[in-house]
Amino acid sequence: MPDILITEPIAAGAIELLRAAYDVEVAPELWRDPDVLCRQIASVRGVIVRNQTELSSEIIAGANKLEVIGRAGVGLDNIDVAAASAAGVVVSTTPQENAISVAELVLGFMLTLARRVAEADRHVRQGGWDRHSFVGTELHGKSLGIVGFGRIGYLTAMRARAFGMQIIAHDEYLNPNSILLAEAGAELLPLDRLLMQSDFVSCHVPLTAETRGMFDHKRFALMKQSAFFINASRGQIVKESDLVRALEEEALAGAALDVRETEPPKADTLARFDNVVLTPHIAAFTEEAQQRVVNAICEDVARVLEGRQALNAINTPLAQRGGA
Ligand code: MLT
Repeated sequence: MPDILITEPIAAGAIELLRAAYDVEVAPELWRDPDVLCRQIASVRGVIVRNQTELSSEIIAGANKLEVIGRAGVGLDNIDVAAASAAGVVVSTTPQENAISVAELVLGFMLTLARRVAEADRHVRQGGWDRHSFVGTELHGKSLGIVGFGRIGYLTAMRARAFGMQIIAHDEYLNPNSILLAEAGAELLPLDRLLMQSDFVSCHVPLTAETRGMFDHKRFALMKQSAFFINASRGQIVKESDLVRALEEEALAGAALDVRETEPPKADTLARFDNVVLTPHIAAFTEEAQQRVVNAICEDVARVLEGRQALNAINTPLAQRGGA
């Protein structure tokens, strides 16, 4: 029986270090089959997941020996953290490790949208050379509205400032005196005002009951017709049918989405818009970020199994489990 189960594709590196002390089973497709997952998780002390493995309360309840869940990433919408806490299971994440990569993709999206890079690329590939159809806009002097001003929002803001952008932020949980806002020179505004004022809106909120579907027709209607909408957080914060409607009505200038309501999307109603850029949830997927993420999560899983404090635990387990 393995000690640690890895249920999604994870880059090797640090896993080899775990193998020196533990029996590690890498089952990158296991997330697809909850019944098999349920059986296999029952005997392990640690599990490492990304965002596709659903660790529901039922699955956690059956994981009698489980001491630690390592989430290789930041989002927690696939893990029932309350059930893990009640069962005495530590949940650890990698809160910082992929933030630069996500911020860099957002900057890439802004440039791609403003300069119509994806569209122009398609045009040239089809034999075109019509420079005059591709007059874009500069980022310089434009306002970037960041919804959710945590680590990724902050790093995005700092990079956007290098382009001469003005930063507006909205965050329900951020202290208005936060040093992050001061450093980024960001103005904290209510969401509706941010949407009305921004030339680019970029979302960096977790998926929760409050944020699910928060970008709907009403909110898109508040945005400037010349504004671009970017989402590299969680797809379900956007009502995609409402975004399609906003694009049809030309209520927005365009959008870039790295995450989708359903992943992979079933029928891609957004793919028909030339002013929409679509990527398959790759914001955190750089060599550097993945190395940092895997090293950090393996380190924390090993620490818990050795009876030490996790460095990035996001819960306080209510019961004591196992022990080395
Ligand atoms: C994250 O939550 O860290 C990113 O979306 C990447 C991932 O889930 O693998």
